[in-house]
Amino acid sequence: MKVLVTGGTGYIGSHTIVELINHGYEVVAVDDFSNSKPIVLDKLKEITGQKINFYELDVCDKEKLRRVFKENKIDAVIHFAGYKAVGESVEKPLMYYRNNLDSTITLLEVMDEFEVRKIVFSSSATVYGDPEELPIKETAKLSTTNPYGSTKLFIEGILKDVYISNNNYSIAILRYFNPVGAHPSGLLGEDPNGIPNNLMPYIVKVANKELPHLNIFGNDYDTPDGTGVRDYIHVIDLALGHISALEYIDKHTGIDYYNLGTGQGYSVLEMVSAFSEVNKVAVPYEIAPRREGDIAMCYADTTKAKQVLNWEATHSLQEMVESAYNFVVKNQK
Ligand code: UFG
Repeated sequence: MKVLVTGGTGYIGSHTIVELINHGYEVVAVDDFSNSKPIVLDKLKEITGQKINFYELDVCDKEKLRRVFKENKIDAVIHFAGYKAVGESVEKPLMYYRNNLDSTITLLEVMDEFEVRKIVFSSSATVYGDPEELPIKETAKLSTTNPYGSTKLFIEGILKDVYISNNNYSIAILRYFNPVGAHPSGLLGEDPNGIPNNLMPYIVKVANKELPHLNIFGNDYDTPDGTGVRDYIHVIDLALGHISALEYIDKHTGIDYYNLGTGQGYSVLEMVSAFSEVNKVAVPYEIAPRREGDIAMCYADTTKAKQVLNWEATHSLQEMVESAYNFVVKNQK
């Protein structure tokens, strides 16, 4: 089976390519390097022993994308490509709507033209907004608090309409919780440009003395220690979730939604202590005001992915924090 991976050199895309190859899939990857680097292709070759069939392109560029489908008999698509920074999306909403929606619509048009009917889409737990009930089930009410989240929700709607128009499609929508960690080789990991927005890459930079301290955004939430609770999932577990989804959609038409998380919530303070203890490194922090738009707690009900996709996360918190730090130590600039 030949799988097109959009956003193939990004954080989650690159780890998923490793697992696709490990599971015997043929991979065609595309990326425009807007938030990743060409060196990832060398790292992928080093890990998998294979040269990746890669096209540098923006998924909004229909002619270039058509060429990929013409030159390869694509059986299924995993669509990761998209902008993903919450704060930036509030400042530049049109850039987010243009890029994330245009790329998806272009991809779906080209898939339709070449009669490719199988797609796995990267959605996010952000579509649950501030959840009314925990753990969060796939049937929970959907809402968003920022343009980035709205693009995910709109794309889920677009995919649903595409399925309604043609029941031959097989669509899996994966709602990620908080991906962290890195490949154990230290060759692949999360490498955001500039000052990180997310907790784990920020902790890593503090531990590595590139930033003076972590700001903990609020310690007065209604949580056991007052700091925010999230469902952190190892990026390799997340990658494996895509393999299970692909296996499932290969055999079943339809559209369905799955949470990819561990079902276990950890607070910011718990993450900081786990990181320090496991890696034996100091992570100085200060308590700062709450960050606008943040919620107290978010963790997944993972029953559906277990029952339907036969997938569940197996990596521990220790492996998450250890591999995240290992990536930085091995890639000192
Ligand atoms: N946090 C800090 N300090 C920081 C960064 C984060 O205290 O410097 C806290 C946040 O307040 C929150 C927790 O760490 O309690 C996790 O924050 P992240 O920014 O790492 O992750 P979020 O849960 O806010 O958002 C992430 C992704 C979104 C996605 C969402 C889905 O960034 O893209 O999960 O639930 F939509």
